[in-house]
Amino acid sequence: MFTELNELRTKSQLGGGEARIAKQKAAGKLTARERIEALLDPNTFHEVDAFVEHRERNFGLDKKKFVGDSVVTGWGKVDGRLVYVFSQDFTVLGGSLGEVHAEKVVKIMDTALKNGAPLIGLNDSGGARIQEGVVSLGGYADIFLRNVLASGVIPQLSVIMGPCAGGAVYSPAMTDFIFMVRKTSYMFITGPEVVKSVTGEEVSARDLGGTLVHNSVSGVAHMAADTEFDALAQVRQMLAYLPSNNSEEPPLVDVGDDPLRADEALNTIIPDSANKPYDIKEVITRIIDRDTFMEVQELYAQNIVVGFARLDGKSVGIVANQPMVLAGVLDIDASEKAARFVRFCDAFNIPLLVFEDVPGFLPGVDQEHRGIIRKGAKLLYAFCEATVPKLTVVTRKAYGGAYCVMNSKHIRADVNVAWPSAEIAVMGPDGAADIIFRREIAAAADPVAKKAELVADYRAQVANPYTAARRGYVDDVIEPAQTRPYLIDALNMLANKRDQNPPKKHGNIPL
Ligand code: HXC
Repeated sequence: MFTELNELRTKSQLGGGEARIAKQKAAGKLTARERIEALLDPNTFHEVDAFVEHRERNFGLDKKKFVGDSVVTGWGKVDGRLVYVFSQDFTVLGGSLGEVHAEKVVKIMDTALKNGAPLIGLNDSGGARIQEGVVSLGGYADIFLRNVLASGVIPQLSVIMGPCAGGAVYSPAMTDFIFMVRKTSYMFITGPEVVKSVTGEEVSARDLGGTLVHNSVSGVAHMAADTEFDALAQVRQMLAYLPSNNSEEPPLVDVGDDPLRADEALNTIIPDSANKPYDIKEVITRIIDRDTFMEVQELYAQNIVVGFARLDGKSVGIVANQPMVLAGVLDIDASEKAARFVRFCDAFNIPLLVFEDVPGFLPGVDQEHRGIIRKGAKLLYAFCEATVPKLTVVTRKAYGGAYCVMNSKHIRADVNVAWPSAEIAVMGPDGAADIIFRREIAAAADPVAKKAELVADYRAQVANPYTAARRGYVDDVIEPAQTRPYLIDALNMLANKRDQNPPKKHGNIPL
């Protein structure tokens, strides 16, 4: 009675067969099923549609049937929490996406959305199944639609574990985070051959759309891993910070760090000179629960740092200017990187914690011509519309428009504090003196000494935290060593925060 079932099951498990599995391994890749096994808690995977077969008859496909076709789908658990997964099987017709491959993915997406659990896509595919023509394209569009409908409702994570080309890249692009594996994954709209014939440029697949390119140059990807196992471990790690859906809170994880822990080193971490850099990541790691910082887009727009962390067990999304890179200035890439992260956190009830040390927006013809007005506005828009608990610590500079943008009190931040080293002003004392005291400096017998005097005067009057504190623009000026206990108390105080935006179909973020 079970013979047929067992035979079908065995065939399905074998995907494209032993020879193609050997080829997959020789390419340094795991199989679709091994990847699922590495991702999920042991023995939690429940496969769906294992017996589905394609219905195509043209181009000899009627003689090339594979039980389960070219994708493995189902549900299982990560750290005991439900997730849905699809894993493209490159051993079956190159993992290409035809009608039934799309149907399987769509079914699992619909189920994930209905049941409010994350969707993880493991991508390894030659793209649209060429033999199936427009039916494949329709299948992609069916998936794209669901990516968008699920956006902001369930977390969607994409791991690129092989080729991902053509319009196929747009499904991962519309998910929340893209993980890539060094050496074996690449993404592009058109491959090296097409690029060569259209533009004459000669480029390898890796240099066109490899892991490093998308993590450091284009900003398309968020995480880079050395191996497939590492990439899947990163997915598990990230899920621990996220709620299963937008109506849940993120899980609490107590790592045993003392909530009252003060850190004296923070009192001397800001250099005496305002132009000297320091590493904002050191500030972050001294304040949050130990070993809980998971940086996102580490290699891209390094003048801003974003990532997940915990404060007394609670998930927070960190956005921090990095004085070590371009003095922490806001430019187009930094604004877009941070805006997308802020919107993700807001969609999924993750409080935002901002560390601010920003000299302003980056001046220059290149930035202006590439649209820093519109693109910088994205970050402003994202912070303004966010209704999750929002906290800001001004460690040093908060200058100009960047003061407003970086989660200021005026745009609904809940708790804003400054360190005594903060300088909150329209611009730095040096530039300010050049503009407002130009005549006095020019007329002085010793212009250098005069300027130094006026700069000191401006700094004393304006470039400190107390002008802002007198107006309530910062709620308090705190000793840096006490920042961790302060933020933990503030986060607890905001635990029941309720805020909402006016009813609307959707806003019009400056895309
Ligand atoms: C059907 C495909 C396929 C495809 C690969 N195969 N891609 N079958 N449709 N899109 C098959 C191959 O014929 C081969 O079958 C097997 O999968 C393995 O492929 P290989 O070429 O042997 O593997 P490899 O050398 O590793 O090269 C992988 C590859 C290459 C770089 C992905 O196969 C390739 O360039 N494929 C075409 C990619 C492409 O142009 N796709 C369409 C993109 S446009 P056999 O039986 O010989 O082993 C697109 C539009 C989406 O996707 C639009 C959405 C809106």
